[in-house]
Amino acid sequence: MANYARSLSTAEGYSGYGAEQGKKALRKAIAETFYRDFQVKETEVFVSDGSQCDITRLQLLLGSNVSIAVQDPSFPAYVDSSVIIGQAGDFEDKTGMYGNIQYMKCRPKNNFFPDLATASRSDIIFFCSPNNPTGHAATRQELEQLVRFAKENGSIIIFDSAYAAYISDDSPRSIFEIPGAREVAIEVSSFSKFAGFTGIRLGWTVVPEELSFSNGFPVINDFNRIVCTCFNGASNIAQAGGLACLSPEGFASVHSIIKCYKENAKILLDTFSSLGLKVYGGENAPYLWVHFPGSKSWDIFTEILEKTHIITVPGRWWALDPVKSPMLFFEKSKPLIPPVLSGVGLNKLGFDFVGSLARSALLFAFHPQLLQLCSTN
Ligand SMILES: Cc1ncc(COP(=O)(O)O)c(C=O)c1O
Repeated sequence: MANYARSLSTAEGYSGYGAEQGKKALRKAIAETFYRDFQVKETEVFVSDGSQCDITRLQLLLGSNVSIAVQDPSFPAYVDSSVIIGQAGDFEDKTGMYGNIQYMKCRPKNNFFPDLATASRSDIIFFCSPNNPTGHAATRQELEQLVRFAKENGSIIIFDSAYAAYISDDSPRSIFEIPGAREVAIEVSSFSKFAGFTGIRLGWTVVPEELSFSNGFPVINDFNRIVCTCFNGASNIAQAGGLACLSPEGFASVHSIIKCYKENAKILLDTFSSLGLKVYGGENAPYLWVHFPGSKSWDIFTEILEKTHIITVPGRWWALDPVKSPMLFFEKSKPLIPPVLSGVGLNKLGFDFVGSLARSALLFAFHPQLLQLCSTN
């Protein structure tokens, strides 16, 4: 990336506007790296400045006259972009939810997968796997069910695979692993979580040629138009970085960092489980979803922040019941976590335990790992 940036100051290396859809070499590398066995063509890959931006560009494509469904809880961009584009109804203070949006409950008791037998039809289904915030990756069987449901109802699935690189079991890493998905799904994905490109900004969206609107017009043609009109393509420098990540050497080093994040998640998972807390995620995602029964998530957030200087993300952010659990994860390097002082630790949450680690050599190793854990976020 540095070499590419330097070369821009030379007559030979300078490049101006590029193809809005992304550099051919990068589109090809994404298709071959992530979709080799699933018939995704490089021309179906649109390189972006991140999946969040593409989520909104897709909403622009779909317009305000569509109905949407989201997992509950899920990454807020789906609902917020829906509100911005005019799909949603009024906000209800009591529930923290918007009208005209179908919130499909995904909780431990349904293995974080919506009950499709009772779900109503919607034009668009946003589905994230591994889910942010729960960390749950949908199984093959569940995704087959989802694709079938979309086919039966004439819905389009917008599948967010931003955290796919963290999947440890045999859960699908892409919706295109599921037969039939090419007729009903779009996939958005990202270099942010895969390669720590949160600030560099790089992602991609796959729109299969087979996907069409109800009048038979191919969605890919309209998405291409949106990309060419509302976006001038990802930065050349970021794309050079993306290409480097997909080289054999780059790919190996990206995976060694992913391995490290996964080890950190395991330490957190084991630690919070050993404290008797109900913990989800951490196996197919680098973050945890921790249940603090009976506590309001903002209260827990404040308590943890004030007493330990650790930033967590309260469940309220995901429009969850405010009385339920916050997800607990950690920002990359600041604020630093001071040792938890004896007697100051959060007894109720087991932070005395963490305090006891602070006085041993263990926490020395533990701290940087905590800090690293969600440095992709
Ligand atoms: C599930 C999910 N999708 C998308 C994004 C946004 O990714 P990007 O940085 O590519 O815009 C995030 C960021 O937190 C996320 O958690």
